[in-house]
Order: sequence, then structure tokens, then C-alpha cells
Amino acid sequence: MAKSALSFVCQNCGAAYNRWQGKCDGCGEWNTLAEEDITGATTMPVSVRSRRKGRLFTLETLTGKTQDAPRLSSGMAELDRVTGGGFVRGSVLLVGGDPGIGKSTLLTQATSLLARAGHRAVYISGEEAVAQVRLRAERLGLADAPVQLAAETSVEDIVATLSEGTVPRLVVIDSIQTMWTDTVESAPGTVTQVRASAQALIRFAKKSGAALILVGHVTKDGQIAGPRVVEHMVDAVLSFEGEGSQQFRILRAVKNRFGPTDEIGVFEMTGLGLREVSNPSELFLSERDLGSPGTAVFAGIEGTRPVLVELQALVAPTSLGTPRRAVVGWDSSRLSMVLAVLEAHCGVKLSGHDVYFNVAGGLRINEPAADLAAAAALVSSLTNAQLPTDAVYFGEISLSGAVRPVAQTSARLKEAAKLGFGRAVLPESARGDIGSDAGLSLDTVAGLTTLVADIAARGQVRPGKRADPEKNATPGQNRRQGG
Ligand code: TYD
Ligand code: MG
Repeated sequence: MAKSALSFVCQNCGAAYNRWQGKCDGCGEWNTLAEEDITGATTMPVSVRSRRKGRLFTLETLTGKTQDAPRLSSGMAELDRVTGGGFVRGSVLLVGGDPGIGKSTLLTQATSLLARAGHRAVYISGEEAVAQVRLRAERLGLADAPVQLAAETSVEDIVATLSEGTVPRLVVIDSIQTMWTDTVESAPGTVTQVRASAQALIRFAKKSGAALILVGHVTKDGQIAGPRVVEHMVDAVLSFEGEGSQQFRILRAVKNRFGPTDEIGVFEMTGLGLREVSNPSELFLSERDLGSPGTAVFAGIEGTRPVLVELQALVAPTSLGTPRRAVVGWDSSRLSMVLAVLEAHCGVKLSGHDVYFNVAGGLRINEPAADLAAAAALVSSLTNAQLPTDAVYFGEISLSGAVRPVAQTSARLKEAAKLGFGRAVLPESARGDIGSDAGLSLDTVAGLTTLVADIAARGQVRPGKRADPEKNATPGQNRRQGG
């Protein structure tokens, strides 16, 4: 019986089927299967392949001389922070993000800075004409940088050109979905093409030692579209995120063979390109809505850096049978957990209320340490009690209603004190980690009930009356509030 060739490939996840179907079993997406000639992926005739004898290579021991991965700083501290200290020679990075988020802008800036520092940096655009790339560089004030520029899409031509002359230190391919190679027959943008093109480019990078950056587009659900298969082939996957309407952009490592994956790089999109934000807390707190109930400042840690951010909650009586729970920037199951603990241990009835929760500034929080701040914001909104504007919150809530200590207490407190906050609400058991010179007054809570009682008491003190702005310091918020 003839072996049937698998020829329908899901354009989202790369799963292959031998007949068409509406839904991909692999990733659950609809209408993503397209016919592809995957037999063309291997061009070598079978007779040649089977005749080739294996080459002998030496096996080494675990001990022995190791050289540090030679790194090349990009000249942008925030980018280096995410890559783990610069581009490693011969490494391949995939940068994903929504269209229009600023990937081309970021990489134009990085290549220009490298070129200015005297390195050979090549920018190959498959989406824009050379004139468009030039126009952007002009706008960024980088038109004088000696970047080598081309608008090309043929992988064979690109590899041949790059192999000429000195080895480039950095090559940017914008984007991998526009590339095509002769070795396979499928159309550009299909999984087979993307995979084969990426393979050829990666082979070039590994052989020559040039650092390679591939740009990839992302689908609306956050997956790197089509070339999800590429994710497994590269050394690092960075994702460039942000709300289109806001000027903050966050670069995050999803995978990194040469560095940490918990660091974020923060940028601000300005009329003159991306500006690095070395102190993100100031940015995230710059538009704080002081004086309204339902907001609490969370002292978080992103990688090695403390980041203060405002959490916002809106709790309102529901008109639906099942109340709504909407979360932006935080894990929704984490919110459900905090709501359940509030209900079970603190007598806070929320089952008749809609709950909306938001992390200001477009940041996404993954730390459990945000539990306490989230609970404070929720209770504050429910009781219509404004929280002290000079307080930060952090601590993990356990299912029993206890507040548990979190890592890096002193770093969080130091950042809060630096930004002018006067007090911190934190787990009782964290007191041991703090020296005498915390720099701000500490309200420790052992359990969530204490916190809820404190906030409820505040609510009763001020029925509808705003707290005296003289009494409340306004840290992290300068100029914007009239008074
Ligand atoms: P771009 O880098 O082309 O995005 P991507 O490559 O991810 O698709 O960025 C496009 C957006 O950035 C566009 O909406 C305009 C904006 N932008 C600025 O605000 N300032 C600038 O200096 C530049 C170059 C772009
Ligand atoms: Mg682009």
C-alpha cells in the first residue's frame, strides 16, 4: 500500500494532516489548515542520502576549558537587560509582537547603534522598501549610521550576500514570514516556508558566528503566528508588548538559552522612536488616579528590578445571574482565588457583584506577591474607602487567609521609599527580613481579616468625604493633581 503524504499543515501550530479538516486537533484553531508540499522539504535525492557515510567527531568531557559566550552590547541598556547582557555570537533571537507595536523601530535603533560603534550590522527588510526604512531612520535621527540595508526576501540571495566580506556582527531579518527559499515549493508565509527559511538563516548564523534576529508576527491571542515552530529552533524568544493606545512598550523574554527569562525591558514610544525607561515605577505611577477608592500600589519585582505599579479594581452590584469577572494584566484564576478567600474567611460577600480588575500602564503581573495589593484594591472599591495614597502593598495570600512573606522584601521597600512612599503594608512574618532602617513605616498584617477590617474602618470614617490632601502625601505622583 502506498504511504500517503501528509500535506495539510496547520498555519498556526504546524501540525500536519493527510486530509483537510476545519479544525486543527493540535491547537484547536479553525480554518488554519492549508495544503503544502512538505515532501519538497528535503531536496537531497534518497540515493545520495543513503550512500553518505557518517563523519567521525570527538566526544568531550564535562570538565575542561569553557569560554564565556562572547556578548555584544546593543548600546540599549533595556534591550541588553532582556537578552541577558547583549547578543551572543552565533545566537538566534526571535522577536515577536503585534503589528505596529514597534519591532522595526526597536531593531532599527539597535542596528544603528551597533553600526555607529563600528560593527558590521545588516538590516534586511522583507516588508518595507529601502526608502521606507531610510525614512524611519531619518525620523529617529539615525540616518548617518553606517547600517547595511536591503529589501530582500530570497534566503539564498541573503545568505550569499552576507557571506561576502567580513562576518556581520548582527543581522536583522524583518520579518521571517516574508522570507522564502528555493528548496521548498510552498508559498511564502506558510509553515513549511517559514521553517525552511529559518533553518537556512540559522545555519548561516551558527556557521559564521553572526548574531541573527528574526522578526515574527503574532496572532491576536499572543501566539507567534505560523512560525511557532521557529520558537523551538531559536536560542531566545522575545516578545514586544504594549497597548496600542498607550506609549509604554515592554520587551519580555519568553525563552532564553543565554540569560534570564524574568527580566523586562521598558520603553516609551515617542515621536523620536523608542526611549528607554530605566525607572519603570515612575512611568507606571505617573498618571495615578489619587483619591479614588479601588486603587492600591503594588511593590513588585520584575526580574532583578523592583517595579511599583497601580492595581485598579471596580466592584459593582451585578444585574446578571452570573456576575462578571474581567481581568487585564493579571491571572484571572488568581483573582478568583483572592475573591474566594475574601468571601470564605473575611465575610466579604462578592458573589452578587461584578468585578473588574486592571493593572495600570499595560504591565502584566505574574507574581503571587500581588495578592495583598489586589485584595486591598478590591475591598477598597467594595466599601468605597480610599486607601492611603502613600502606602504600598505586597504579600501572598494563602487559601487559609494568612498573608505569607515574599522574596526581596528589602528591595521592594527601598524602591517605595525612593519614590516617596511613607508606609508599606506587608506580611507580619516578613518583619525579620527588614533592617531597622526601612525608610518608611511598616504596617504588618498576619491575616487578610486584619487588612479588611482596617480598610472597612477607613470607609466608615469618611462617608463620601474626601481625605484632606494636606494630610496625605502624594508620592509617585508629581505635578498632575491640582490639589
Ligand atoms: P513599527 O516599528 O513599524 O512597528 P512593527 O514593526 O512592530 O510593525 O512601528 C510602527 C508604529 O510606531 C507606528 O504606529 C508609528 C509609531 N512610531 C512612533 O510613534 N514614533 C517613531 O519614531 C516611529 C519610528 C514609529
Ligand atoms: Mg515592522
